[in-house]
Amino acid sequence: MADVSLFISKVTAKEAVVGVIGLGYVGLPLALSFAEKSFKVIGFDISERTVNTIMSGHSLIKHIPAERVAKAVNSGTFKATSDFSLAKEADALIICVPTPLTHQREPDVSYIVGSAESIAPHIHKDQLIVLESTTYPGTTREVVVPILEKKSGLKLDRDFWAAFSPEREDPNNGQFCTTTIPKVVGGVTASSLKVAKALYDEIIIRTVPVSSAEAAESAKLLENIFRCINIAMVNELKVLFQRMNIDIWEVIAAASTKPFGFMPFYPGPGLGGHCIPIDPFYLTWKAREFGLSTRFIELAGEINTAMPDYVIARSMDALNDQGKALKGAKVLILGLAYKKNVDDYRESPTFVIWTKLLEKGAKVRYADSFIPEVGKTREYAHFAGEKSESLENIGQYDLVIIATAHDGIDYAELAQKAQLVVDTRGVCPKLDNVYKA
Ligand SMILES: NC(=O)c1ccc[n+]([C@@H]2O[C@H](COP(=O)([O-])OP(=O)(O)OC[C@H]3O[C@@H](n4cnc5c(N)ncnc54)[C@H](O)[C@@H]3O)[C@@H](O)[C@H]2O)c1
Repeated sequence: MADVSLFISKVTAKEAVVGVIGLGYVGLPLALSFAEKSFKVIGFDISERTVNTIMSGHSLIKHIPAERVAKAVNSGTFKATSDFSLAKEADALIICVPTPLTHQREPDVSYIVGSAESIAPHIHKDQLIVLESTTYPGTTREVVVPILEKKSGLKLDRDFWAAFSPEREDPNNGQFCTTTIPKVVGGVTASSLKVAKALYDEIIIRTVPVSSAEAAESAKLLENIFRCINIAMVNELKVLFQRMNIDIWEVIAAASTKPFGFMPFYPGPGLGGHCIPIDPFYLTWKAREFGLSTRFIELAGEINTAMPDYVIARSMDALNDQGKALKGAKVLILGLAYKKNVDDYRESPTFVIWTKLLEKGAKVRYADSFIPEVGKTREYAHFAGEKSESLENIGQYDLVIIATAHDGIDYAELAQKAQLVVDTRGVCPKLDNVYKA
């Protein structure tokens, strides 16, 4: 059997080498957290650009300071590579690769499969493999372990261990970081849980062991489904209250004064980011295998997906009140990031709104101080190269749509200078030219 006490003694002595596969929003801070606690860390990524950027002491992620990367690299505790044969040097390998949906909105676990296949020929006895990517219950046991066993000839528990530990990273959250967010850990076997918990205990403030990898996989999905459904609920109420001439943001602020039993969620122009619009549908897909449907998830998806159309309708109403048409109107969308104060625009609803405005014949620009230029995206490649406008001449636009409300902008002043504002975040004061959406 694989030697649990040897692994744990290596970990507690900080002699274990940690490999992190996928150096993005989740993997990079995790790798740095281990390096900063004196573990030797090898980061693996298929992107040469990512590897080279990290090795030159820079960061591709705005809220992760280059100094942090440079310090870990220069001290020799952290190196990045695309040579997966170095996986043999690690005692633990943690997979943090993307888990998107296919065009048919089904789980795309090809990145998980790809990373498992690239490490499998190099894994060895007494090694721990942990999956952190958000996914449906059963992925670690049914997808990852068989690949590892088949390609290596090794056996779970006899030779290596496998666990799932969901990532709860909240980019740019000033209150919490990788090491201060309690971490759920579930093993595919009992000894897998023991070793995985021991590893994370070295860097995380509190680990939360659960009985299986599936329970850990499900816990992450529950967290994100909870958000998705509650956001859909306030989005639905927003549309109703607007008809009734009631301000949803005022209502939420009032309800939030209840000291128990209420948690505020806020409406917006649609769901964005790598998690909330995607993860719930991993469970929807898996539920079909059990002959069940996930009606709450489907309904929330339907409501949230309709939000960009609502923003367009409100924009047309607002322009119409001024005797203008959306066709030919100069429109500035403020905010491309999917949430405030980050530079991440994956799945951003701004792209959907932008596309719909163009379809209606509007002339559209965007402004986002966090994103000076649009890079390549899978679905919106045609927006690549578009550059952020300054807010100097905000009055030249027929309409400004506030899609993301980054801090550092005086929205009251902006509303006064703009001809017309559609505010999807409830940040502008009540003015005649401000339409909440
Ligand atoms: N971003 C978040 O805030 C967040 C929070 C919680 C959970 N998650 C989950 O964590 C996972 C990773 O998300 P992310 O935001 O860090 O993604 P990301 O796109 O920022 O980073 C993923 C990295 O993996 C690399 N990669 C892809 N395939 C690879 C392979 N086969 N081998 C090695 N590297 C590979 C990519 O080049 C990229 O650098 C996803 O499942 C996501 O749902 C993300």
